[in-house]
Amino acid sequence: MQTHFRSHNCGELRIENIGTEVTLSGWVQGTRDLGYLLFLDLRDRYGITQVSVKSQELPELYEKAKGLGREFVIQVKGTVLERESKNAKIPTGEIEIVPTSIEVLNPAKLPPFLIEDATDGSEELRMKYRYLDIRRPQMANNLRLRAKVAAATREYLNDLDFCEIETPFFIKSTPEGARDFLVPSRMSPGSFYALPQSPQILKQLLMVAGMDRYYQIVKCFRDEDFRGDRQPEFTQIDCEMAFVSQEDIFRTFEGMTKHVFKKVANVELPDFLRLPYKDSLCLYGSDKPDLRFECPIIELNEVMGGTEFSVFNGVLAENGLIACLNAKGCAKYTRKDLDKLTEMVKGWGATGLVWVRYNEEGIKSSVDKFYSPEQLAAICEKAGAEKGDMLLLVADKLKGKVRKALGNLRLHLGKTEKWIDESKWSVFWVVDFPLFEEDEETGKLTFAHHPFCSPRPEHLHYLDTEPEKVYAQTYDMVMNGNEILSGSIRIHQKDVQDKIFDILGLTEEEKQEKFGFMLNAFEYGAPPHGGCAFGLDRWVMLLAGETSIREVIAFPKTSSGRDLMMDAPAEVPEKALKELHIKAL
Ligand code: AMO
Repeated sequence: MQTHFRSHNCGELRIENIGTEVTLSGWVQGTRDLGYLLFLDLRDRYGITQVSVKSQELPELYEKAKGLGREFVIQVKGTVLERESKNAKIPTGEIEIVPTSIEVLNPAKLPPFLIEDATDGSEELRMKYRYLDIRRPQMANNLRLRAKVAAATREYLNDLDFCEIETPFFIKSTPEGARDFLVPSRMSPGSFYALPQSPQILKQLLMVAGMDRYYQIVKCFRDEDFRGDRQPEFTQIDCEMAFVSQEDIFRTFEGMTKHVFKKVANVELPDFLRLPYKDSLCLYGSDKPDLRFECPIIELNEVMGGTEFSVFNGVLAENGLIACLNAKGCAKYTRKDLDKLTEMVKGWGATGLVWVRYNEEGIKSSVDKFYSPEQLAAICEKAGAEKGDMLLLVADKLKGKVRKALGNLRLHLGKTEKWIDESKWSVFWVVDFPLFEEDEETGKLTFAHHPFCSPRPEHLHYLDTEPEKVYAQTYDMVMNGNEILSGSIRIHQKDVQDKIFDILGLTEEEKQEKFGFMLNAFEYGAPPHGGCAFGLDRWVMLLAGETSIREVIAFPKTSSGRDLMMDAPAEVPEKALKELHIKAL
């Protein structure tokens, strides 16, 4: 688009434009002075265009160009010419501009790191000077990709008559299992708003209000430990529908996922597998397995007994689990490699690692003392081991420990052995979650997702007697080993919701105090409803081929929750604290 400052952008001129008089504006990426000739690379969001100035023909402009520093903002007027030596690596590589004028719009200080994809800036420096970091094509493209995902999402949902509705940020706590960020109220001394961990309750109330189909691309706030895939403020594509079953939700949001993939990445996803939660844990040791490669967990209890090996006998006697991975082609692992893996599985909670190696010399193991060659052969057969393979076994009386350790080991092997085909997409549903899980610390039952998920109707009768047997109408979507979506059919009857709160140990007072308004609303004709929320940052991270969501967020926080650019959080004057009725430390 033509503006006062430019006729074209820095990425669009081609061989067809030769002879055209143009005006470009942008940043100086760099200059190369050959003495008789100076090349200047002019950059903007769209690309880079070369400007060339011959010292003999344009002595004044040559001198001016020599004085330009990196990141100066300039305007160049000139003519498009065909380049003598072309650069096939960039779209504008066949042309160059011979200038008639160069005007400095704004000089710039030398940037603290290279503004190019292969930058020399550390992540800290890049976050401190984020406005410079975003000038790098990679970051700029990530943000554009993010905008495209949001646009494709809106397109799909608007077509289905979803209504985009904003919900407030200053609310009462919405529980998603994390800590709330609190905002003190000046007008109500000693009282605080909570920032929403998600708009969960509000979107349910919109269903009670009859809005039928709601969505919002919305910031959520959670004060938890931050990692590569977690930020204190992140964005959800939050959705809710009335009068739907799980099947309707699957159809709608599988459709949306396929639509977005097609639109932004030209990828046609096949229909999604539905993996029961239990199978996911038993086979892959994770509720978000990466299925771009196989290597399932193989349970070995039935072939491990009848020996003098007291460790395994103890596990078998206590109804524990002995299981392994068949690490294909890994018989080559040395003692040192195996020691390293042993340390790793210990870090994931296992007590140790037993190995069985099957190679040209036959079968050898770290438990040869206790297992006869026939028994080892039976183990290999059970695990489907062939010559060249290495079995890696973990055992514990707690089955969950074995699965977790092997699940992590599986992922580690998938990465280090390059079993993961990076060009592949693995997107599927995990279904059939239990409604409750045991809190590891307290041993008490707590909700597996959030307290508004509906139990399966056929399991309602277990609620009073064996709540751990109750399955929820809950689902996750997993993308290349990342939880990308979570959702459920909700409870819409007050008595069921009441009962769930009872099981979670809420007193009548707590119920009223925390959720009274919701329980109240449910008495005014709440329709059956359900929904889900996508983690937009994670989805874009995967589409962009990045490994941290910070790379797809314009102004992210560090892992300790700091904004390095603004230097937040920061202390405030005592006066401000006083107004908020907060005592200084
Ligand atoms: P849940 O808590 O599973 O569900 O969140 C939905 C999705 O949001 C993403 N996500 C995050 N992304 C970045 N940083 C974080 N700290 C973070 N936490 C979560 C994940 C996750 O799958 N109200 C329910 C949804 C519903 O039931 O409709 C909810 O918030 O990709």
